[in-house]
Amino acid sequence: MSALTNDQIEDLITQSLEARNFSYSPYSKFRVGAALRTVDGKVYQGCNVENASYGGAICAERTAFVKAVSEGHLRFVAIAVSCDFNHYITPCGICRQFMNEFGKNLEIFFVNDDRTFKRAVLADILPFAFGPEDLPEK
Ligand code: THU
Repeated sequence: MSALTNDQIEDLITQSLEARNFSYSPYSKFRVGAALRTVDGKVYQGCNVENASYGGAICAERTAFVKAVSEGHLRFVAIAVSCDFNHYITPCGICRQFMNEFGKNLEIFFVNDDRTFKRAVLADILPFAFGPEDLPEK
């Protein structure tokens, strides 16, 4: 059961598919798009941005998070992620860890290019996570 209405899910899917268009991926040629919804209903789009120094690449999901956090948003309800072929893409380990910083209950929609999707909650795909609550208070 999602916290989003069907229309909100469809909108997030549309925006994640659209975000692929700006993917900068000359090395992998793998275009990824993401759309991240804040608790107050704003949606931030992100794409993967690669680099000639390959390790400098940033995934679409983290691009969306960094855009949102840098504009003052810290609470999120859902993210949709899509790539550019017939596949339900799931976030990489680094992105799962990055997202965990902002809450374990984030809904994630893995979107196929035909708009069908699978859904998970972050805690399910990042069990035994290490997060801010594991650090001692300073
Ligand atoms: N990538 C993402 O943007 N998100 C994912 O969930 C998986 C991988 C990007 C990183 C790199 O630019 C390309 O896809 C190939 O790994």
